[in-house]
Amino acid sequence: MGFLSHQTHTNSFLFITTLFIFCSIHLCLSSVNDIITSTMFINENHTITSNNTNFKLGFFSPPNSTNRYAAIWYLSDSNIIWIANRDQPVKNSSGVIKIHKDGNIVVMDGRKHIVWSTNLTFSTKNVTNISSAQLQDNGNLVLTDDNTGETVWDSFNHPADAAVPTMKIAANKFTGKKIEYVSWKSPTDPSSGDFTGSLERLAAPEVFFWYKKTQPYWRTGPWNGRVFLGAPRMLTEYLYGWRLDHDPDGTDYLTYSFANPAEFGILSLTFDGKLRLARFLNKKNYVTFEVFQNECDFYGTCGPFGNCDPSSKPICSCFEGFEPRNLEEWSKKNWTSGCVRKKEAQLQCVRLKNLNNNSNNGVEVQQDGFKVFNNMKVPDFAERSDANLDKCKTNCLANCSCLAYAYDSYVGCMFWIRDLIDLQKFPYGGVDLFLRVPYSQLIATSKGRRRNKPLMIPIVAGVIGITALAICAYIMWQKWTAKQTRTPILKKSNAGEQKQMKLDELPLFEFEKLATATNNFHAENMLGKGGFGPVYKGHLEDGQEIAVKRLSKASGQGLEEFMNEVVVISKLQHRNLVRLLGCCVERDEQMLVYEFMPNKSLDAFLFDPRQRKVLDWKKRFNIIEGIARGILYLHRDSRLRIIHRDLKASNILLDDAMNPKISDFGLARIFRGGEDDEANTKRVVGTYGYMPPEYAMEGLFSEKSDVYSFGVLLLEIVSGRRNTSFYNHQQSLSLVGYAWKLWNENNIISLTDPEIMDPCFEKSILRCIHIGLLCVQELTKERPTISTVVLMLISEITHLPPPGQVAFVHKQKLHSSESSQKSHQSSSNNNVTLTELEGR
Ligand SMILES: *[C@@H]1O[C@H](CO)[C@@H](O)[C@H](O)[C@H]1NC(C)=O
Ligand SMILES: *[C@@H]1O[C@H](CO)[C@@H](O)[C@H](O)[C@H]1NC(C)=O
Ligand SMILES: *[C@@H]1O[C@H](CO)[C@@H](O)[C@H](O)[C@H]1NC(C)=O
Repeated sequence: MGFLSHQTHTNSFLFITTLFIFCSIHLCLSSVNDIITSTMFINENHTITSNNTNFKLGFFSPPNSTNRYAAIWYLSDSNIIWIANRDQPVKNSSGVIKIHKDGNIVVMDGRKHIVWSTNLTFSTKNVTNISSAQLQDNGNLVLTDDNTGETVWDSFNHPADAAVPTMKIAANKFTGKKIEYVSWKSPTDPSSGDFTGSLERLAAPEVFFWYKKTQPYWRTGPWNGRVFLGAPRMLTEYLYGWRLDHDPDGTDYLTYSFANPAEFGILSLTFDGKLRLARFLNKKNYVTFEVFQNECDFYGTCGPFGNCDPSSKPICSCFEGFEPRNLEEWSKKNWTSGCVRKKEAQLQCVRLKNLNNNSNNGVEVQQDGFKVFNNMKVPDFAERSDANLDKCKTNCLANCSCLAYAYDSYVGCMFWIRDLIDLQKFPYGGVDLFLRVPYSQLIATSKGRRRNKPLMIPIVAGVIGITALAICAYIMWQKWTAKQTRTPILKKSNAGEQKQMKLDELPLFEFEKLATATNNFHAENMLGKGGFGPVYKGHLEDGQEIAVKRLSKASGQGLEEFMNEVVVISKLQHRNLVRLLGCCVERDEQMLVYEFMPNKSLDAFLFDPRQRKVLDWKKRFNIIEGIARGILYLHRDSRLRIIHRDLKASNILLDDAMNPKISDFGLARIFRGGEDDEANTKRVVGTYGYMPPEYAMEGLFSEKSDVYSFGVLLLEIVSGRRNTSFYNHQQSLSLVGYAWKLWNENNIISLTDPEIMDPCFEKSILRCIHIGLLCVQELTKERPTISTVVLMLISEITHLPPPGQVAFVHKQKLHSSESSQKSHQSSSNNNVTLTELEGR
């Protein structure tokens, strides 16, 4: 027995020793360094590090300051995400962070005075091991009560100015408690500044930024599951990963995250009230930008019922039926007191109420109605209900206090019973706002419309009726026959994706109608020759101007491109893409009907010494941004993923306000979900000079090919020179090569077109060239995506990476690669050569 017992003891001793050693090693290796216990402290020379090594807790000083602050940072102390004692700096370098004997995390100065504490009261006071704190892998410092194991405090719920992924922007409906983010006082002073950010208006939650805690400064508008309705410039792309969640205890919260674990971001509120996002990829800061703000973004710029439109002058106006409350102030551009309803434009329901009160009946009842304003910022103080769109309207009409309504499929029915404030007209995005107006105003507008029509309405209507019947019958017959002919055409094409496209929604034009509209395709009506046939200007009977693209019978190989274009573009709608009005497939003819662009194409301006002057820098920048947005829509926002493959100046059309519209989708390729990002093609089609090397040489194309072409286009727009113009000189570089040479000589500004040279714009021009060079880098993966390009263009980027080696070909190199392959040339409308290489 004794022997046995002895052996057991030895075994357990061995076991315990081993366990002890193992545990110590284990502790040393992994979890010691991210935890503070009551026996440890962090002083000036120490930090603790999260297990994944991304975050550190320690002391730091801001630039030009000797103040010491206990803080958490990401990678380096230039990326501070949280500060403990921001308003009580330690004045010398003898500060200490530790777990106090009362269980709180505290910061102490050199004289052992507590300058900051988590200020909690712990129930157990058993002297040692009340609590411990851990710096977690997401950057959260978490204090745990060691007796209960519960989390009693964490830094994510007590933020400074910054939010990182998984941090919450939260508020509670019942208690009103909310998490506030507070800006720094200045870039070098982290003490609590003037701006705060928080989640507000919990009926339809949105982020508010306040000045001095009480004055609204700007607001994002409600989150609709995809975008903030009042901040359309904040791109869906970088809002990716945002969520709005609701806890049962009444807490609503927004969070954001990145799908790619190699990505990280720090969202912060700057000392001057802007929202800044620093994005990291593989622990490298690749872009930092601030959300653009214009005058209209500041809360209530135009006062109640004032409509702000940054593109008009002056920016503020009153809605129809309203007038400035204080004309004198208003004329001095002090718009803050806004607009009031004119006496004569009073709402019927209000008048009725007053009449009833005066017991004066027998007045004709003419109901108020609504006037719609598109692309509006949702006014503040929205009420919300679950009514559908129709019910939303009828409910609003039925309640005299309801002044306006709007509907969003995610948010639901929004309506307003208070003065409408913080209105803005966006160029895109926002909501349709339905403003309640008196009956008189509804008639006034329809009367105005009627005045333009001739008096013979009854007769004309009769004739039209009969004709319409005939046309309808004809169109139906046409549609039927067209379907018979169209289907085989679609099946002919090799690309599998095209077969499944339906063209049902696309209007059909009759051949006769187009022939009449273009004066029988008269040479005088010809606008130019596109890739596969001439383009004509035409007038429809109703006066609408159109552009008709007629597939030339001689081109032979154009049919597939034609059908491709129909399929691609009929699905797309964006202000920076040319709009397809319909098509015609009749009598062996294939024609596309587009909206007419009075200003032709970009190259007609850019490369014409006299016309070039028309494009000042503002216009050029607007064109650059528009093209980028159009491409972004193709790559990301449309239901299909489309690569254009032939972006060039002659394919950018300009409308009457010089807004760019991308056209010519004959070569576009559709990618469907799940397909590879890169594809290979046997036929290299496109335009030399705009093609990236991997495409020209190997037939590889991807979204980054369009980015390359965009980069070339951008350099052309800034320099006013054709990329191809350089090929005229032996030995000379392409525009890209020339730009790269200037960049390396630190003389990039001299690339700028002298017509737009203006010291005021120098910064903006330089930034554009920089972005252009990033787009034409040789390595595909180094080129930014188009969404990053848009961000770089529209925001005050504080950090752009330097461009790496760009891709360009010397004339000779181009020649040799051309001659090594069988090439087929066809001329396009501006002497730029369209080269088609047969597959190798
Ligand atoms: C903790 O309490 C003290 C005294 O009430 C107060 O001055 C200090 O601001 C509090 N600290 C925090 C972080 O709430
Ligand atoms: C604008 O008008 C408001 C309201 O009358 C007044 O309080 C404010 O001081 C004015 N602002 C300026 C800059 O004159
Ligand atoms: C009109 O709507 C408001 C807000 O929902 C409500 O408080 C009020 O009672 C309604 N008035 C009538 C007459 O229904």
